[in-house]
Amino acid sequence: ILLIAVLGIAAYLIGSISTAVWIGKAYYGIDIRQHGSGNSGATNTFRVLGKKPGAAVMLIDIFKGWTATSLAGFLIIFNVIEPENLVIYQLIFGALSVVGHIFPVYERFVGGKGVATLLGMMLAIEPVVALMCIAIFVIVLFTSKYVSLGSMIAALAFPILLLLPRFHPENPILIIFGFVLFAVVALTHRKNINRLLSGEESKANIHLGRKR
Ligand code: G3P
Repeated sequence: ILLIAVLGIAAYLIGSISTAVWIGKAYYGIDIRQHGSGNSGATNTFRVLGKKPGAAVMLIDIFKGWTATSLAGFLIIFNVIEPENLVIYQLIFGALSVVGHIFPVYERFVGGKGVATLLGMMLAIEPVVALMCIAIFVIVLFTSKYVSLGSMIAALAFPILLLLPRFHPENPILIIFGFVLFAVVALTHRKNINRLLSGEESKANIHLGRKR
């Protein structure tokens, strides 16, 4: 029990690492939460600071979710749980890192929207389905130019793809948790949803083919 609690706290603290805020402050002297969409995430870092810091934030945030989720492996190594229960603890630790990202203890609980961290979690648990979600994200992004729409559809695609017989996990809790995590992502995107509905959501500056 003690090990589970320690790893759970570690997962939350890993998720709390506010990459976008810290890179913005350390290298550019700005608080990313006061610029662009005001979100402490990879998308807003791309938007406000550019490609390199944006990519760095994206990769580190994905890595956070992957690392926190993978902490569950220690419970197997130390014989605390049976292997068939691994996914439950992966979900708990992964979810704690997503919560940490959204409500970071180091930044007065003002964090991001949890998408990259959730992706890291999905990659650790179901990498093939996670890669399909990335593909769906890219397709929605390039056709609509809305990152937020891509994020939400990709987050919803995860539990839906798991319903397919090809991927159907032995433990249905993964599917249920997937829908819960989508609900969390939808909640963190409430302002984006309002902007999408009113046509005010900002479009990503991406080009298919060569720039003109
Ligand atoms: O990952 C967050 C993204 O879906 C939306 O970010 O900055 O456009 O609100 P933003």
